[in-house]
Amino acid sequence: MDDKSMPRTELSPEQWNWTEKEDPPFHAASYNSILLKYHNRLTTEQKERRIFVPLCGKTLDMIYLSEQWHEVVGLEFSEIGIVDFFAENNLTYDKEDLVGKPFVKYTAKERNITIYKGDLFDLSQEVCGDFDASWDRGSFVAINVPTRKKYAQLMTSIIRPSGKILMEVWKYDASKYAGPPHHTEEKDLVEAFTDFKVEALEFNPAKPHFYKGDDILLGAVLLSH
Ligand SMILES: C[S@@+](CC[C@H](N)C(=O)[O-])C[C@H]1O[C@@H](n2cnc3c(N)ncnc32)[C@H](O)[C@@H]1O
Repeated sequence: MDDKSMPRTELSPEQWNWTEKEDPPFHAASYNSILLKYHNRLTTEQKERRIFVPLCGKTLDMIYLSEQWHEVVGLEFSEIGIVDFFAENNLTYDKEDLVGKPFVKYTAKERNITIYKGDLFDLSQEVCGDFDASWDRGSFVAINVPTRKKYAQLMTSIIRPSGKILMEVWKYDASKYAGPPHHTEEKDLVEAFTDFKVEALEFNPAKPHFYKGDDILLGAVLLSH
């Protein structure tokens, strides 16, 4: 899929504000504080540990994770985001069109980071293998609400039975703002991720640029078996 085409279930790369000129508003210039605080809740005994970063954009969190994990795998449909990630982090890469699959695989040469370019909803274990954990920032909350169940099924199919998902979510009055990021409560996660236990780690008042009210909470949630 090129950057001009529309993924089946989401906004186009243009609607996510990917341009060569400036960073999209969701991109952060430092590591995510929820990831830093709760990363230890994701660790496993596994030796060759793999972590998945769905809808990764060009997040610096992949650099942090590459220091902690054996392999970091991102997924993003914007080629601008992927190419910027490598350039801005002084990484060179190999690029491979996956035969018969709607994905291009970018593998960093200097770090243990691979990014698949394509639509998340085309992904399968056959393409990317399975994972011990996932860091989900701006991914579950980014997809349309009716697609949540499908998202959870996909994630369940690629996360190993012992695996965990750390997620950043937003709680607010959905009548005031339609998203994305979409309003998410623990019960929404319980409904979508039927094979996982849902543990709210913290919720704190926040003042994001996209929301005008003062009743918004930013939260950290852990999904485990
Ligand atoms: C809110 S951003 C979060 C990016 C990143 N996780 C971060 O923290 O900066 C959502 C990202 O998902 C990408 N995206 C949206 N729908 C997608 C889909 N169906 N498949 C692949 N990427 C998608 C967008 O291009 C955008 O970069």
